[in-house]
Amino acid sequence: MPNSKITGVGMYVPEQVVTNADLSKLMDTTDEWIIERTGIKERRFFKEGVDTVSCMATKAAKIALERAGKTAPDIDLIVFATLSADYNFPGSGALLQRKLPFRQIPAFDVRAQCSGFIYALSVADQFIKTGMYKNALVVGSEVQSNVFELSDRGRNMSVIFGDGACAVVLEATDEPNKGILTTKLHTDGHFAEELYLEHPGSRRKQRFSPDMIEKGELLPYMNGKLVFMNALKYFPEVIREGLDACNLKETDIDLLIPHQANARITAAIQKEMNLPDEKVISNIHKYGNTTAASIPIGLCEAWEQGRVKDGDLIVMAAFGSGFMWGSAVIRW
Ligand code: UT7
Repeated sequence: MPNSKITGVGMYVPEQVVTNADLSKLMDTTDEWIIERTGIKERRFFKEGVDTVSCMATKAAKIALERAGKTAPDIDLIVFATLSADYNFPGSGALLQRKLPFRQIPAFDVRAQCSGFIYALSVADQFIKTGMYKNALVVGSEVQSNVFELSDRGRNMSVIFGDGACAVVLEATDEPNKGILTTKLHTDGHFAEELYLEHPGSRRKQRFSPDMIEKGELLPYMNGKLVFMNALKYFPEVIREGLDACNLKETDIDLLIPHQANARITAAIQKEMNLPDEKVISNIHKYGNTTAASIPIGLCEAWEQGRVKDGDLIVMAAFGSGFMWGSAVIRW
């Protein structure tokens, strides 16, 4: 049975840098509050007409393909993780497919929010392991700056999230003990409404009504404290589950790439796993929480900085809306 390994990674973030000071002009918040509670100093906001979710993914994909020594026609499958697709339907996978000279390959979206990249990676990995496809493009891309309100009532979420994209090329390999060793995925839908955006959903006869904007019903809701507490429980649990499945220990980890939800969450996982700073990726200060793009952006920057070396054990983990969570254990 072949394994799948990442052979190219590329990222794209919008040009516009938005600092905490910029946000404090629009709402009742401060640089100190945001840094102390989240570790975020700045984030990127998309430019309308330039940075759609699929356009950003295309830019990231081009870099990933080039680094993998591949061209678009080599790709057999696109798995696109996003919670902020360009359209309600079809998914952004289809839009990415038409932007580069891909063949008429399957291209679909995965909706797993903050865990989107781990889920998408796992889906692509299964297709490669079964031998159905040889080369896959796995993408995480988000435009979130326009879903929150840059106002006092939106401040609890709007200071946290940012925009960005990243893509990886996943290839079949026969090298033993190389590539994705395992992925572990979980969901507990009892918590669906603890971090969610209800509208425009299909539950109501009328998907939109004029008063929804005024009532703030088009804004996402997050029970921050509950999400935080569950993240502290499930991140270490799912990392250990992945390591156990491969007969590996925490001391074997060369690089941990956690979903960038909050610098305090990352620090707590690091402490629990007893890992030194150089083995844990933390870049939330630059990008905020980019949801499905955060893990691959972490990988991309680490790779560009020479922190990912042949034979390294890379562990990725995510937790978020759903609740959904997961991990991937990778031998580079
Ligand atoms: O990607 C995965 C999903 N998301 C997460 O993993 C997020 C997990 N949760 C968190 O990171 C934290 O819960 C937050 C960063 C969202 C919030 O931190 P917190 O320590 O849980 O703060 P809080 O929500 O309890 O708010 C504390 C205070 C409140 O005021 P009062 O009630 O104590 O007077 C809030 O109204 O801070 C206030 N507050 C703000 N103040 C300044 C909320 N947002 C802001 C803000 N600026 N932007």
